[in-house]
Order: sequence, then C-alpha cells, then structure tokens
Amino acid sequence: MEHEFQLFPEQASSYAAKLDWLYYSLVGVAVFFTFLICVLILTFAIKYRRGSRASRGNPSNGNLKLEFTWALIPFVIMMISFGWGTRLFMEINRPPADAIDMYVVAKQWMWKCQNQNGKGEINELHVPVETPIRVTLISEDVIHSFFVPAFRVKQDVLPGRYTSIWFRPTKPGTYHLFCAEYCGTSHAAMRGKIVVMERHEYAAWLEREGTTPASVQGRLLFERFKCGDCHGGDTSDDGPMLSGLFHRTETMRDGERLEPDLGYVRQSILEPQARVVAGYQPVMPAFQLSEEQIFQLVAYLETLSAQPLKSNTLPEELSR
Ligand code: CUA
Repeated sequence: MEHEFQLFPEQASSYAAKLDWLYYSLVGVAVFFTFLICVLILTFAIKYRRGSRASRGNPSNGNLKLEFTWALIPFVIMMISFGWGTRLFMEINRPPADAIDMYVVAKQWMWKCQNQNGKGEINELHVPVETPIRVTLISEDVIHSFFVPAFRVKQDVLPGRYTSIWFRPTKPGTYHLFCAEYCGTSHAAMRGKIVVMERHEYAAWLEREGTTPASVQGRLLFERFKCGDCHGGDTSDDGPMLSGLFHRTETMRDGERLEPDLGYVRQSILEPQARVVAGYQPVMPAFQLSEEQIFQLVAYLETLSAQPLKSNTLPEELSR
C-alpha cells in the first residue's frame, strides 16, 4: 500500500468512517475541555497571584445556576456519547442476516482461513467487495486477536470458544491482518492479508481455485466417522437426528433448553457426555476432530436443514 505518512489507516469497511467520527468527537471534546480548564487555571493563577491587586472582597458562597450548568453540560455530552457509541456497538456486533460465513482458526503463529466455498488459505483471506462477511474465529492454542485496522475490526480469538465479527468491505485492495494479542515468540510475525476483490473477480477466483466446498468436505467426514449410523433420523437410533438441528430447541437430560449452535456441536463432538439431549443415553464416544474439521462438519450439517440456517450461503451470482 502507500508508504506516505498516515495518522489513521484507510477506511475500508462500512462502519470504519462511523467509528472514526465517534473517535474524533470524543478526542475533540477531551481536547476542548483540557484547553478550557488549562486556560482558566492559568488565568486565575495569574489574576490572583500573591500581591496582585485583583479584588478579593465579596467572595462567592454558591451559585445554584452555575452549579446546575456545569453538571448538566457534561451530563448531556456523556449521554450523547453513550447513545452514539451504543448504536455503533450494536451495528458492529450484529451481522446482517445475509452475511457470508468465513471461518478462521488461529494458531502459533498463523491464520488458517476457510472460505465456506471450500478454499482454505494460510495467512490470506479473499472476500468480495460490498458483501457482508461474518468471520467465526477459534484458536487451537493460546489467545490471539484478529485485527484488521482498515476495517476497524479487532476481536480476541480464544481457545475452546467461538467468537465472531462481521464487516462489509467497501474498497477492493489488500489490507493488513495482524495478531493483536501477544501470543509467544513469533507473535510479531503472525500477519496476514485480507484481499478484497470485485464481485465478478471473486467469483472467477473461486472458480479458478476449484476446491471442494466446506460442506462437501464435511459430508466426507460425516461418512468417514459414520455419524449417520446413530444420527440418521430413525426412531431406533442412539442419537438425535441432525437435519434441521439449527432450527429447533433441544431439551437436555438435566432440563436445560438450548438452541443448538456451532459451540454446542463442537462440544458434542469433543465431549459428548457434557450435554446430552433428553431421551438419549450418554453413549457417544468422543471424536478428536481438528477445529477446521468441525467447521466443515457444521457447514455440512447446515445443508441438512430445510432452510439455510442464517442465509449463510453465497449470493446467487457468486455461487458456483
Ligand atoms: Cu497470535 Cu499474537
């Protein structure tokens, strides 16, 4: 990218400019009051210095109007910042319903990115412009942090627990991806790039790369581990049916009710006894799947639903 001096990184996502405006105004308010207070301190210090001839008679014993004013103005400013910040926080934390899913596994010291259409990448993630992208993150070892300055995106990546962020890139180009959490010797080398492409170029790129969609890889795993033997949907089966899994609420043996999600599926594979669906025996053995394999398996399970889970499929013109 350009090497000219930049105080702020480029604004390349739909909410980058909005976040910057909030930041500028908070800095603006802080600078304004710092100056105001500085000037007042200096003015009074000089005016009332020892030996000055300023009038010291008639000292003030309270002024209700003044006190209300200096309580009310900061209150109003704080409430505006609060409302503004909250609205933005909501926007940044709620992916649009039509967001495309991407999966990222962090490990010392690399980013393993999985496009839901199958292309696995190391330290690179290709995405189409003007398309909301939801990235689901998990770590294989320690805590990392997924940081894309140009998108104003920073999210911790935790071992054993999914986190997610979303962004809509607004400009084609290549942007830095950094790890922003100290994660060991080569933390500084844990870098990657996000390549934002025009939509037609992206479709061509997917075509050219010609890899197997994640859901197909997931189906192969489903067959390899014979998941269907117990979860095929027959009433005599040892386990609950997996199709439509993400559209229902399940009751556990201990009475807990939950809507199965990625985290629940992951736990059920790695520690099957942890939360067993009511009406079934805790007979499932644990499976040692990698984080990538779990993502692929979930991508397959999502295709088993009558309707897509959260319309996490590619828009019409991008699908193959
Ligand atoms: Cu990963 Cu720092």
